[in-house]
Amino acid sequence: MCGIIGFISNKSCTTKLIDGLLKLRYRGYDSCGLSVLAQKKLYTFKSLTEPQSLLPLIPNHVNHTVTAGIAHTRWATHGVVSLSNAHPQVTHGKISVVCNGIIKNHKKLRDSLIQKGYTFESETDTEVIGHYLDLLLKKHDKLEAFSELQKTLTGRYALACILEEDPECIYALCEDMPLFLAKTAQGIAIGSDLYAFPAHDEFCQFDSRTVYQINANGCSNKTLHYQKSDISDTPSTLNHPTHTLSEIYEQPGLIQDIPALWRDRCPIPPFIYGAKHILVIACGSSYHSALLLKYWLRDSAIHCDVDIASEFKMNPPHHTKQSAAILISQSGETADVLIALKQLKTNNTLALCNVMHSSLPMRTTAKIALHAKKEVGVASTKAFTAQAIALRLLYDQLHQRPILNPDVTSECTQQILMRSKEIRKIAYKYRSIKNILCLGKGEMLPIALEGALKIKELSYIHAEALPAGELKHGPLALVDPEVLVITLTPAPCNYMDICIHEVKSRHGKTLNIGAVCEHADDNIIISTGSSPLSFLPLNTALQLLAYFFAEAKGLNIDQPRNLAKSVTVE
Ligand code: M6R
Repeated sequence: MCGIIGFISNKSCTTKLIDGLLKLRYRGYDSCGLSVLAQKKLYTFKSLTEPQSLLPLIPNHVNHTVTAGIAHTRWATHGVVSLSNAHPQVTHGKISVVCNGIIKNHKKLRDSLIQKGYTFESETDTEVIGHYLDLLLKKHDKLEAFSELQKTLTGRYALACILEEDPECIYALCEDMPLFLAKTAQGIAIGSDLYAFPAHDEFCQFDSRTVYQINANGCSNKTLHYQKSDISDTPSTLNHPTHTLSEIYEQPGLIQDIPALWRDRCPIPPFIYGAKHILVIACGSSYHSALLLKYWLRDSAIHCDVDIASEFKMNPPHHTKQSAAILISQSGETADVLIALKQLKTNNTLALCNVMHSSLPMRTTAKIALHAKKEVGVASTKAFTAQAIALRLLYDQLHQRPILNPDVTSECTQQILMRSKEIRKIAYKYRSIKNILCLGKGEMLPIALEGALKIKELSYIHAEALPAGELKHGPLALVDPEVLVITLTPAPCNYMDICIHEVKSRHGKTLNIGAVCEHADDNIIISTGSSPLSFLPLNTALQLLAYFFAEAKGLNIDQPRNLAKSVTVE
């Protein structure tokens, strides 16, 4: 979703701003823009396309003399995708604001500002901020005005602002949303996502309810407390056409490496070992990984509930102070998960997260890193795999089993990737299909759900997952020659054979993944061995299938329409 990057430096920093915008794209965006201060004047440029399109808009004399700037990628929430709604939002050509999140009381503020004679050019809640600040600056000095602004705004937000009358500063504040600062070789960077910053060794995270006045040396009104950065190299797509494919291909390595990291140091906190009740909360793919844990724990003495974070918020299931809560999130910024965390009755909270400098692991009692490395593709692939491995390792530890040996699963996943041409051919054969049903049983049901989600988000083909046994209890009515039914069969299974016959009798198409089923129209044959992670190669085959459906349809695979990498609003 929306992203902020800002720079203040003794050298021109426009290219750094554009670089930052390019790196923010993975979050999902539909417009972008920047404001810069050059020779004591404020300039603003916006675009509805790629961030690079901003560069030619900036005149040379401005480009060479920029001392400070703020930039933004917008993912529309308040108002349509348009240049007037894109950020920065500018007041009277003098005040420029970029904002992530939502200002809850924007309507009330807008009405009162209109009464005072202010006019609005956008539908955004952000425009209110600059206008209100303008009013405050008439009565207060700058820091006081920002402090009053912070007291007035309600909601979850992070914002950065530059003022024409103060060309040496960026002002920043946040409420329950991340905003960071780092010293880089190119100057001081601020922003909402450390991945958008140039290389840096240390960073600090801004506190809520605090105004920060940033200059080219750091912060002039607060002492900052730096932490070591855990960000390594920027991922590249060197050998693959997209980040998503590159991330799918990283999986055999992760399957191999993650158990070894646990062998070196088991990260499970003591409260998990003692828990009689474990509540797992997540969204999307992370929720699907949680369902695996529930399935594995179904015959154990530990009672496990799994809840979708947005459902938990509405109606939390029974839990006590003694319950342990595991919150799973690739990004660590999913608003629904963060809100659910606040509503928990227990402090026994464990984050399972891929971005360790994000909000979730900073707020839970304990945290476990997924070690998936940066995931850029909006569709989660390797992070889901890392979640499933972490949960299996946790399950095994709870039952005092030795750390699993991942060799067979890693090798088998590698084999699937080497057979990608075969899967591609099947995807191209069925690319015009309109509806897909994915059937799974037992631990294959979460994999069917995850596969259907991957197909939906990457290829825009309608796909649903269901327990194989439920087919004849209703969904069979959907089956006709336009429907493809995918069966997940890690081992020969009479039951799936019956399903395939039922579908074929109604002229539906069938694709079986796993042990061969001679009655299916097509098979992706996978022999998984007997590892506890044997579901992963089937998941990889589904990822590739979804990927090649999208490729066959010529879609934007890394950034599917309407979606954002981290969903930071409710
Ligand atoms: O960052 P999170 O794991 O909290 O994100 C949760 C979902 O938004 C995410 O898994 C989403 O469903 C993915 N696009 C799935 O590929």
